[in-house]
Amino acid sequence: MQITVTKNPNPGTMPPVDKLGFGAHFTDHMFVMDWQIDKGWYDARIVPFGPISLSPASNVFHYASEIFEGLKAYRTEDGTVQLFRPWDNIRRLNQSAERMGMPLVDEAFLLEAIKKLVALDQHWVPSAPGTSLYIRPNMFGTDPKLGVHGLHEAKLIVILSPVGSYYAEGMNPVKIMLETEDVRAVRGGTGFTKCGGNYAASLRAGNRAAEMGYSQVLWLDGVERKYIEEVGAMNVMFKIAGKVVTPALTGSILPGITRRSCIELMQSWGMPVEERLLSIDELLGAIENGTLEEAWGTGTAAVISPIGLLNYKGSEYVVNGGEIGPMAQKLYDELTGIQWGRNADPFGWTCKLPKE
Ligand SMILES: Cc1ncc(COP(=O)(O)O)c(C=O)c1O
Repeated sequence: MQITVTKNPNPGTMPPVDKLGFGAHFTDHMFVMDWQIDKGWYDARIVPFGPISLSPASNVFHYASEIFEGLKAYRTEDGTVQLFRPWDNIRRLNQSAERMGMPLVDEAFLLEAIKKLVALDQHWVPSAPGTSLYIRPNMFGTDPKLGVHGLHEAKLIVILSPVGSYYAEGMNPVKIMLETEDVRAVRGGTGFTKCGGNYAASLRAGNRAAEMGYSQVLWLDGVERKYIEEVGAMNVMFKIAGKVVTPALTGSILPGITRRSCIELMQSWGMPVEERLLSIDELLGAIENGTLEEAWGTGTAAVISPIGLLNYKGSEYVVNGGEIGPMAQKLYDELTGIQWGRNADPFGWTCKLPKE
């Protein structure tokens, strides 16, 4: 399939770096393609970024057929733009699509489309330390017909947003609230997918935690409410008695690409990593007997987010004296070094775009 390009006749300008924030500004172009059940994907195009028109009956508005991805392009010191493990995001998009009964994409084709779009708008990739271009593919059902039924029509769009440094004021340990009332996902559900519904259902708990001064929610499993799962938009890792423990991918947790990268890095450093069930009782026990050394979240936005304090049922538990631990710092330095091209990339995780 060919990708047609319609250039934006009114290109925008990049806001000052201290005004970028996250997800509020968009580049000049977007990638769009459509799908129909009897036609497959068609009309792949790069067009000016702007509003789209949809029937109010569209499936996505009523039955939430929607999935998305989040990855970044980074500008290296020599001006090259590179992506980080984009093929893993595209594979995960297909895993989400499969679970949601949505159409699969040709992974090589979508990677080429993303590269072409980012290459066209590459002057929008900021160069200040810690800044990047966030890439947001999403797919949604567009059947203009009410009634719960399999999809006949869908649309896939990729938009690009220059984003500021997550740690503009330096890396700071966060306060996390363990959620004991709402659940995010159950095995057999959609927890392992990046579907909008997972996030919609998590907002209430997130709001409650924010009102109490906590930055994110830590979810427990939806059945026994006993096992640690993941944070709102991050996977989670704990260093307990010299080993790193992270919840196993049991089907209700998003298989994070930063999580996988951290595991591969730590294994290459000889650090034991256990992917297994971790109960809240085991975690509180480790805090009480002093064997919990560090805790941190992993995700594309923050890369590594050290956890300085956990609240469980009203009691606060300080982790590592509320300080950034050495393993969190080492992972952050190494991963960001690879992403921004300061460090060698022995795993072949980066994908350079041709220079403008
Ligand atoms: C629920 C959830 N878990 C984990 C992650 C981390 O995934 P990744 O490292 O691929 O960004 C994210 C962010 O994308 C998320 O939304």
